[in-house]
Amino acid sequence: MNKLAIIGGTGVYHPDLLDDIQEQSCLTPYGEMTYVSGMYAGREIVFMTRHGKQHSIPPHRINYRANIYGLKRLGVTAIIATTAVGSTHLEVRPGEMMIPDQFLDFTHARPSTFFDGEPLPVAHVDMSMPYCPVLRELLAAGLRELNVPFHKTGTYVCTEGPRFETAAEVRMFHQLGGDIVGMTNVPECQLAREAEMAYATLSMVTNYGAGVSPTPLTHREVVEAMQQNSARFSELLTWIFRHFDDDMESPAFRAMAEYGGFQVQA
Ligand code: HPA
Repeated sequence: MNKLAIIGGTGVYHPDLLDDIQEQSCLTPYGEMTYVSGMYAGREIVFMTRHGKQHSIPPHRINYRANIYGLKRLGVTAIIATTAVGSTHLEVRPGEMMIPDQFLDFTHARPSTFFDGEPLPVAHVDMSMPYCPVLRELLAAGLRELNVPFHKTGTYVCTEGPRFETAAEVRMFHQLGGDIVGMTNVPECQLAREAEMAYATLSMVTNYGAGVSPTPLTHREVVEAMQQNSARFSELLTWIFRHFDDDMESPAFRAMAEYGGFQVQA
């Protein structure tokens, strides 16, 4: 039986759609992770805020390994993550959503793997299709049903942050095929794959990227755009809770088969 977790990004902080909410923490070999568990229609759902409750953890300091390892240890098999993103070109507009199917990784200073040689051996996980097609289809079905405009595919560029990009960087990302830019999907997505969990992202376009936007970027505009869409997020998450398939199968569940699977330490 599958277990779903939501990782809430900027502007998605409250698990208030769930009943019997309990704040808990879990120790992992990578440090502590905190989460909330709650119930929806008799099913347990785990909720985690990526930046902490007060938005105090910047993207480059998030303990991605503790978060994903902790979810794995809790028995989570499927993760839906939300992200706020900028758009690299005019065809993707603020206010729209995207379900990325690819990413480009421009991070450079983050622990990004469980397979560091110690304690886990060397391993090279396949990332041809980084996001789970089954969860992506579930998100698309929900957005369609709720009449929310969205892009069914797209390439997410992950930057190191915490600064926003230069105009030249955004221009380059667009030329390389990047549609949206954010700071958190890598290594989160990659770690979930290494841990053999299905993972998909719902990206909310909060702004045009640097140089595409006529004005300097502020964190405030990102947060405000997310707040304006919080009702939509709640609606969609509720739809997902209702339609999530306990028996779903994902290619991610066999991602480490070549290495005998992902072993969780007790
Ligand atoms: N760049 C990087 N991250 C972001 C942006 C952006 O323009 N908007 C929201 N998150």
